[in-house]
Amino acid sequence: MRTLVRERQGMTALDVGCGPGLVMELLSPFLDVMGLDIDQEMVRQVRAKGMEAVLGDAQDLPFKDDSFDLVYCSFTMMWLPDQQKAVQEMARVARQCVVCLAEPDYGRRICSPPEVSRLDKGLIRSLRAEGADPFTGRRLDRLMRKVGLEVDFEAYGGKWTGAQLREEAEAEWNSLSKAVEGFVDTETLERARAAWDAALADDKLVLINPVFRAIGWKR
Ligand SMILES: C[S@@+](CC[C@H](N)C(=O)[O-])C[C@H]1O[C@@H](n2cnc3c(N)ncnc32)[C@H](O)[C@@H]1O
Repeated sequence: MRTLVRERQGMTALDVGCGPGLVMELLSPFLDVMGLDIDQEMVRQVRAKGMEAVLGDAQDLPFKDDSFDLVYCSFTMMWLPDQQKAVQEMARVARQCVVCLAEPDYGRRICSPPEVSRLDKGLIRSLRAEGADPFTGRRLDRLMRKVGLEVDFEAYGGKWTGAQLREEAEAEWNSLSKAVEGFVDTETLERARAAWDAALADDKLVLINPVFRAIGWKR
């Protein structure tokens, strides 16, 4: 994304589902970027940081056709009930391209040891219960092609092993175990924790969470 925007300094951009504006902060040195979020509190937080944001729905964008050079979203598509409509709307208000910067796919995790992998089903069920589509990553290509965009699509390795994993293992365990609470039984969770600790001590813990990205160009 940095390469894309460096080559096009000063482009106008819309961040759809901007949240508190973390990605906007990273890209605002290169882009003239506005945020949009369905949550008023997120809009307030972005404005408090001195950036522009409006309240709105990704599936019905409150802008005219071709309003921004670039329209992007990050970790947002998976939460939208009508992803196709959102991509159609993003393409409508974009002059040059639409970018889905990062969407995970929980059906493609590689975890070791197997006791930890056994939590995946619970994680998928918990995301669904919250209203998310856990398999969004793999769909980005088709969603964009269906609205006539020319797509450049790939998965980040999301490789997370060795020193980085050791450093972040406790925080990751806490968020994983919280996410699956109520979706796996206590015994499965306890076994996973014991196997996690043993694998970590033995430098054998592996967590690979692929995250997909797609750039769709208007012809
Ligand atoms: C996981 S957060 C991602 C925030 C930010 N894009 C990031 O990467 O840090 C998802 C955001 O999408 C917003 N959102 C959910 N449904 C939306 C919709 N229909 N229209 C616009 N924003 C929406 C949420 O309010 C939330 O701020």
